[in-house]
Amino acid sequence: MPGDDVVDCHVLVIGSGGAGCRAALEAQQYGDTVLLSRTLTGKGGCTIMAEGGYNAVLNENDSCLLHYEDTLRGGAYLNDPELAEVLVAESPERFFDLARWGSVFDVAEDFVAAQRPFGGQRFNRTCYAGDRSGHEIMATLVEQVRNSDIHQIQEEAAIELLMEDGRAAGAFTLDRDGTPGVIRADAVVIATGGGTQIYDISTNCAAGTGDGFALGWRAGGELVDMEMIQFHPTGAVYPPDARGRLITEAVRGEGGVLKNSEGERFMARYDPGRMELSTRDVVSRAIANEILEGRGTPHGGVYLDVSHLPAAQIEERLPIMLEQYLTFGVDIRTEPMEVAPTAHHIMGGLRISPGCQTTIPSLFACGEVTGGVHGANRLGGNALADTQVFGKRAGEGAGKAAVRKKADYAARLARQEERFARFENGTTPPHEIVSALKRAMWDGAGIFRTKEGLLAAQAEVTRLSALIPKAYGQRGRLECCTVENMLCLSSLIIRGALVREESRGAHVRKDVTQDWMPERSPFGHTIQKGDSCIIEKKGGAA
Ligand code: FUM
Repeated sequence: MPGDDVVDCHVLVIGSGGAGCRAALEAQQYGDTVLLSRTLTGKGGCTIMAEGGYNAVLNENDSCLLHYEDTLRGGAYLNDPELAEVLVAESPERFFDLARWGSVFDVAEDFVAAQRPFGGQRFNRTCYAGDRSGHEIMATLVEQVRNSDIHQIQEEAAIELLMEDGRAAGAFTLDRDGTPGVIRADAVVIATGGGTQIYDISTNCAAGTGDGFALGWRAGGELVDMEMIQFHPTGAVYPPDARGRLITEAVRGEGGVLKNSEGERFMARYDPGRMELSTRDVVSRAIANEILEGRGTPHGGVYLDVSHLPAAQIEERLPIMLEQYLTFGVDIRTEPMEVAPTAHHIMGGLRISPGCQTTIPSLFACGEVTGGVHGANRLGGNALADTQVFGKRAGEGAGKAAVRKKADYAARLARQEERFARFENGTTPPHEIVSALKRAMWDGAGIFRTKEGLLAAQAEVTRLSALIPKAYGQRGRLECCTVENMLCLSSLIIRGALVREESRGAHVRKDVTQDWMPERSPFGHTIQKGDSCIIEKKGGAA
């Protein structure tokens, strides 16, 4: 157990995607900073997979007010207004940081950043680097991290926060061989990203298992709106190996159209004003409905077609889409893609202040693991902006934390050892638990929800949580911890979804009738802490 494996620092940043790297870059200006990465720095998170772009108000005919209003309307007015305001106000500056550090985004003829239309926005404000925007951003951030004094610990994951007197003081870790370690810090930033790997069909990277939600919840943090799961309208449905893979909204931004098996451009029936560039919740439901009503394609999706666009536009602006579909045997310059909704983003998460302070002292959070910025549905392009705006703020908040005597971890160590012993005597292969969980979540807590379906999913999560995942040797420990995190996240989502008896944004309760529009909803956030889950009534009283 720890000995040589104890690392002390001022700030510990857990997670090395876009938000984590940005947080570490900021925090290191205040003191020794450790960037802990479950994979290799910058390689494992979802930012590197982000395709479409980064929203920023850069044009004099656009305005922060317009971006703010679009964000709130898109979020079905469940957003924390202060967080949304910070997002839109600071995303341009954070975009310029990236450009200054070397990110190469596409430019328009006048050499200013090119911006494309994305769903639910009244102005073309999504900046992009072809359809590999996240990759460009991560390459830049990783280079900045490499050229800094940040201490990178790679292929090691946090399995529990180290707490002292009710405040975050570091984390217990496991490396890829299952060797435990301890990192002690004056302040901790959780930047572990999302967790839609709990669904059968997901765009998320393998590490999208919800670790940060579970870490924060176990430590006693408050989480908001965990029921709000975004199903991206367009995931690949075919070939089977590519199922769920993101087909960027940029395809529709560039003029791609959706058609059902009857050749009908069906969005005209769901949102005639915005058509394919409606918000993601609306487009996902429309696609799911077409499929359910029997107008789906042979592989169970709908068609997404760009063949009417000039080939040069596809080659230049959507090179990754073109290349990936060519490997699937489909030339999108002449043939349509088949797509269907795929679990993409968790809008809910750890409750934060505008300074990214969670409800636990010395614990900060940023990026997808937080809740409140995007409300009940996120606009495409706002996630990359979120990583940079709140990453910087979290790093700064943590950096400014007081220096303290390092925590005594010995008392907590026994609990981890008991956990490992439990896994060694486990009953069930982890993959069996995960497969059953993914099915249960897709069936019961997916795009369309009912109380009955949610209760069935909850019963399955309870059954699976009673099984003990089996660690096959020391190396298997981390997988078992991950399974526990996935079960924890699923249970938070279901509890929130049961308590929110209304349809709003991405959360649709088919069994509930309501006579209000989102802006008139009598409900605010769902708030979870420990075993409690409540929903705010308008005006804030629970
Ligand atoms: O469709 C996309 O390119 C995804 C963008 C996002 O989630 O912001």
